[in-house]
Amino acid sequence: MNTDEYQELLSEFNELKKENLDLDLTRGKPSPKQLDLSNPLDGILEGNFQLKDGSDARNYGGILGVPEARQLGAEFLGTRPELTMVGGNSSLNLMYHFVDNMMEKWGSGIKFICLTPGYDRHFSICEHFGIEMIDIPMESSGPNIEKIEETIRKDHSVKGIWCVPKYSNPSGHTYADPVVNRMASLPKLGGKDFKIFWDNAYVVHDLEMDSEKLLNLSKEAEKSGTDNDIVMFASTSKVTFAGAGISFLSTGKESLLDFEKYLSRQMIGFDKINQLRHVKFLKNLDETKKLMAKHRAILKPKFDLVLSILENKLGNKDVATWTYPRGGYFISLDTLPGLAKRTVHLASELGVKLTPAGATFPYGLDPADSNIRIAPSFPELDELEKAVNVLATCIQLAQAESCLKGKNNG
Ligand SMILES: Cc1ncc(COP(=O)(O)O)c(C=O)c1O
Repeated sequence: MNTDEYQELLSEFNELKKENLDLDLTRGKPSPKQLDLSNPLDGILEGNFQLKDGSDARNYGGILGVPEARQLGAEFLGTRPELTMVGGNSSLNLMYHFVDNMMEKWGSGIKFICLTPGYDRHFSICEHFGIEMIDIPMESSGPNIEKIEETIRKDHSVKGIWCVPKYSNPSGHTYADPVVNRMASLPKLGGKDFKIFWDNAYVVHDLEMDSEKLLNLSKEAEKSGTDNDIVMFASTSKVTFAGAGISFLSTGKESLLDFEKYLSRQMIGFDKINQLRHVKFLKNLDETKKLMAKHRAILKPKFDLVLSILENKLGNKDVATWTYPRGGYFISLDTLPGLAKRTVHLASELGVKLTPAGATFPYGLDPADSNIRIAPSFPELDELEKAVNVLATCIQLAQAESCLKGKNNG
């Protein structure tokens, strides 16, 4: 990097500043066009609130959800309806409460394994409950399972692990079969009440026609006798309405009973009418996949656009690497070490909001300061193009600054 190249990047940066952009690449939100796909939910019941079992969805009862929605949730999660419950509009809320209930049994001084880069809101739950986080890196075929096994074996205060097994947030990687298979035996290696939090948020969110295959954890856990120590989650947040969907939780029989007891202290039941609406609209997993193909038609060009800009602008520059997800909602980009915070700051000066650097790591601390999560779903293509161009310029400028600083200091 010489001074001329730096000056060139700086003038590109100053030109972009004049555009007064106001763009947001922060959270993985569906775009309005995606939300429109589910508008038939509104009014779909046409005044008919009767459930298959003859009961009335408008009334109290059934904290585990309406039977037809439990069936749908079981299809999403690859398990059985009697082991599956349906919650409100947030699976994250179910995760939080599951941890809350377990805290009584776990006591204080406990730890969780957090795979990184990962989902910031999982980490926030740990922070809230004072659970110490142990960071283990994600790899392209899932997490390093040997490292996980060793950690659990050595330290029995490790009581949980967060997993996003399919199209992981943010790397987009899916766990390979041997990883899932060995995961199912993890609870046998550690202390009492070790739980696997299997957040299958992107289970039906393919960006390609052929879905990546994920081994069924509940079947593996049943074989291993650990079914009460796994808890699986999914939701329709990025299938229907992100703010008004339904969520699913599936676990072993005793574990579900225990969670039901916990929930019953707080509420009589979730919104059954919304559950019924969703079953009327989505029907079953096969029909849901048809809806997801419509999402794919909207999302795929956005991912392709981001990837082609990154390739064109950074492809031969050795300043960053990034993932090529086949599903999910994110592209995970790694700058050279030490550049992520500065890049995000420079982009914000140009009016482009990115997820804060470090957010994909426990306590918001990325030891290499290199990971940036890109969420391409919400902006329209023209805005996305501008935002990613800004990002590419800012990565290069951050690197140029760092090179010049190095030269001046050295
Ligand atoms: C991995 C993961 N889990 C859970 C959620 C939130 O899901 P919900 O809307 O069901 O709470 C998200 C949202 O981005 C996510 O990425």
